[in-house]
Amino acid sequence: MADLPDGVPVPADGSLPQPDVTGGFSAYVHIPFCAVRCGYCDFNTYTNLDFGPGAGVADFPESLSREIELSRHVLVTADNGPTLANVFFGGGTPTMLDSAQLVAVLRNLDQTFGLRPHAEITTEANPESVTRESLHELARGGFTRVSFGMQSAVPHVLSVLDRQHTPGQVEKAMAWAREAGLDTSLDLIYGAPGESDADWEASLQAALALEPDHISAYALTVEPNTRMGGQVRRGEISLPDPDTQADRYERAAEVLEDAGYGWYEISNWSKPGHQCRHNMAYWQDANWWGYGPGAHSHINGTRFWNVKHPLAYAQALQAGRTPAAARELLSPTEKAEEHVMLGIRLRSGIEVPEWVKGSVVPQLIADELVDPSAALRGRLELTLKGRLLADTVTRVLMP
Ligand SMILES: C[S@@+](CC[C@H](N)C(=O)[O-])C[C@H]1O[C@@H](n2cnc3c(N)ncnc32)[C@H](O)[C@@H]1O
Ligand code: SF4
Repeated sequence: MADLPDGVPVPADGSLPQPDVTGGFSAYVHIPFCAVRCGYCDFNTYTNLDFGPGAGVADFPESLSREIELSRHVLVTADNGPTLANVFFGGGTPTMLDSAQLVAVLRNLDQTFGLRPHAEITTEANPESVTRESLHELARGGFTRVSFGMQSAVPHVLSVLDRQHTPGQVEKAMAWAREAGLDTSLDLIYGAPGESDADWEASLQAALALEPDHISAYALTVEPNTRMGGQVRRGEISLPDPDTQADRYERAAEVLEDAGYGWYEISNWSKPGHQCRHNMAYWQDANWWGYGPGAHSHINGTRFWNVKHPLAYAQALQAGRTPAAARELLSPTEKAEEHVMLGIRLRSGIEVPEWVKGSVVPQLIADELVDPSAALRGRLELTLKGRLLADTVTRVLMP
């Protein structure tokens, strides 16, 4: 599993140099449990469902309550009016907790900070981990959106990804979610071992046939410390080359955009008005507090991150200490770098940074990586080719 970054220690009470979030903030809640660990997954999640007090599926919300209470002491908010803009339950598999538990955590956040009107409340879910009743209960409890990990519509691809659901389960889960009045999103992965162009096409068409409000499509990343990383190292499986991955991305862009899903971030498309507001908050460098083991937070230029193990997390909170492992204060240069790195991935792009001079922008235009008319207005917006080569563009733009 990916290591946490280095950083400096956090005061035991979790206090922050600039704690004022009166302008609003988002909450991310990390649920670190899964029924089965997928071979490609590098997220902070565990199939042991009970590590001890406060660190098992049954009583994990108690630890979250303690962190919510800690954040109430740390953050400064206006006395009048709610400050919570969005809440996103991610994982792991949040729906390893039952709906009543998830709703109770949401209620706790609402009572503590106040949800703004029309707040977006999302949970991720594996298709096989929900029922009609569990989705209705989430909707009744205030959830507005569910994001299903569909990944593929092709059985042999689902199998190589260790996914536990069948294509039919996604269809059912989507119908129940819609019936419950939830906005819907589907996650797809392209470039799994053995996936053909036709398989990818079938997955795109199957996703569109389900008419979600939002679709994310990610290139499979193989991290060295995963089971799949080991299989690739030993030569047991092979992955598509970068050109094939680029073709798959281009095909996704074409199919999704033709069907009325506008791209708004490199890997994300939505029907008009259905962009994920929580993710936009990340990419626009807004304030968010990440609750749960290994969760990262960003408050007014300070980044901090929690210890990864659920038991270490629970024990810190039981001892009245912050579960934050370390933090870093972003320097003005780091803030500027982050703004470029995140902002350039968005359709809205960024203003040409003040340090970018000389032939840099003309060269980006000549290489067809940014839109020439936007550049005339002083903005950098990626073309389709630029979206494929976003890392190169980012490197060129660094201060
Ligand atoms: C970490 S999962 C959590 C949600 C849920 N457990 C699931 O798997 O659907 C969120 C999404 O991250 C994406 N993801 C996870 N690992 C990935 C990887 N190595 N490469 C590409 N996408 C990945 C998958 O599309 C997945 O739906
Ligand atoms: S179900 Fe989701 S979070 Fe869990 S191991 Fe698989 S990809 Fe990772």
